[in-house]
Amino acid sequence: MIYFDNSATTPPHPDVIETVRRAMEAYYGNPSSLHQKGVEAEQVIKQARAVAAQFLGCKPSEIIFTSGGTESNNTAIKGVALQYQTRGKHIVTTQIEHPAVYDVCKQLEGLGFSVTYVPVDREGRVSLEDVQRAMRPDTILVSVMHVNNELGTIQPVAEIGKWLKQFPKVLFHVDAVQGVGKVPLSIKEAGIDLLSVSAHKFYGPRGVGILYKREGLIIQPLLMGGGQESGVRSGTENLPGIAGMAKAIRLMQELGAAENTRLEGLREQLRAGIADIEGCIINTPQTGTAPHILNVSVPGVKAEVLVHALEERGFLISTKSACSSKADEPSRVLTSIGIDRDCALSSLRVSLGRENTAEQVGQFVVALRECVAQLRSYMKQKSGTR
Ligand SMILES: Cc1ncc(COP(=O)(O)O)c(C=O)c1O
Repeated sequence: MIYFDNSATTPPHPDVIETVRRAMEAYYGNPSSLHQKGVEAEQVIKQARAVAAQFLGCKPSEIIFTSGGTESNNTAIKGVALQYQTRGKHIVTTQIEHPAVYDVCKQLEGLGFSVTYVPVDREGRVSLEDVQRAMRPDTILVSVMHVNNELGTIQPVAEIGKWLKQFPKVLFHVDAVQGVGKVPLSIKEAGIDLLSVSAHKFYGPRGVGILYKREGLIIQPLLMGGGQESGVRSGTENLPGIAGMAKAIRLMQELGAAENTRLEGLREQLRAGIADIEGCIINTPQTGTAPHILNVSVPGVKAEVLVHALEERGFLISTKSACSSKADEPSRVLTSIGIDRDCALSSLRVSLGRENTAEQVGQFVVALRECVAQLRSYMKQKSGTR
């Protein structure tokens, strides 16, 4: 099987698996315990925090370990909303956020907050001007994702953050889950107060992530308890996961920017191959995108049918046509960029990763061409016999 679903999750690197295994075996102490095993465990967490801080360009004290992107987003947004609700109850976000931001905002609306969902352009990009227009005197938070998980479009978060610096009371959260390690972003330069990271998107373990929280910023914790993670995220630390994530960060740093250039090359090979297939429409814009995602529609063919047909030929990809709760609803992200329902219901996401090669991309294009031709001729026959 050839895995082209790296935006959903990445296969953990063998060294990460080994780090997790060793951590479970050797560092089973509770980092809060005073004895030797506790101190050893605390050391592991401290080292991992230093690795994460160096990678993100921040202080170790600004790193909060969480259970992943969803928790980091929830903690950031609800944490700010609860802490600063007396200052204002308005939040600005975009129409194309991941549900771990979008649905949190919907939930807060139900609790009396007001949210502006800023629209995006045809390429799936929000503009600084539209964010500026959405701002109100009672705005307490702006939350904009770094890279969209369905289209791969990079958002102008640095531009928005720099502009927001003049409003120190308006906090800026960035869901960087899809961008980390793929698209450069300086937390400090972009004036980011809170940033979400998830390890399983970069060959780390799932169920572990980071919330960067600017030093001195106070937010309400979601989880109360033992006061771990500076009181922001109580609960005995997931030491094996945290150690595995630090290993994954180190490996990502070793590979450096060259891997992203390689991915971009593969993505362009894929784009050119698919552009040549009759009836395929490429939804991912030409420029300003992360290197690993290509979103394609095959109008007239249901995405689920194509996904299964491709799986039969040995390729694993994703459909983003249906949101999890309503199977027949088209993707909110694709409809936000003005794609019609038929096109949105037939969209596929191919997402590339470290293990993919040019040969695999070539094979995929051949398989997709055959599947599309077969399914289209089947549909024609079906409509002809009606
Ligand atoms: C943009 C974005 N945010 C948040 C998440 C959620 O992260 P996690 O799976 O670690 O909870 C994802 C996962 O797909 C994502 O793509």
